Amino acid sequence: MLEAAKRVSKNSYSPYSKFPVGACVLTENDNIYTGCNFENSSLGLTICAERNAVGSAIADGERKIKAIAIYSPNMQKCTPCGACRQVLNEFKSDKGIDIIVEVSDGLLVYTLDELLPESFGL
Ligand code: THU
Repeated sequence: MLEAAKRVSKNSYSPYSKFPVGACVLTENDNIYTGCNFENSSLGLTICAERNAVGSAIADGERKIKAIAIYSPNMQKCTPCGACRQVLNEFKSDKGIDIIVEVSDGLLVYTLDELLPESFGL
């Protein structure tokens, strides 16, 4: 999944921040979907890699996400922003979501519950 996130980060459209990000989600049906960030001259319309990947999963009929890997060549341990944490929360599997990021000596796995405690949602 991290390799897929790395691959798709190369398609990032990020001329303003110059901060490419790629994400890869794994669903309860064991399908994976990727996404990269894409920015806009109005800045506020930027879509993060995580939400792009989640949107592709939803469009394919998926509703439960088990894990997400996130990668940026610009930053180790690139965890999701607050908005993306809330979006992930909407589609978490019954066992939650593992959030996989790269660190210097390998991978680090957080849970969404760790990164978004006491969350609001159904
Ligand atoms: N970004 C993501 O795609 N995911 C993250 O987890 C952090 C931030 C994007 C948004 C924007 O295009 C650029 O990275 C800089 O914030």
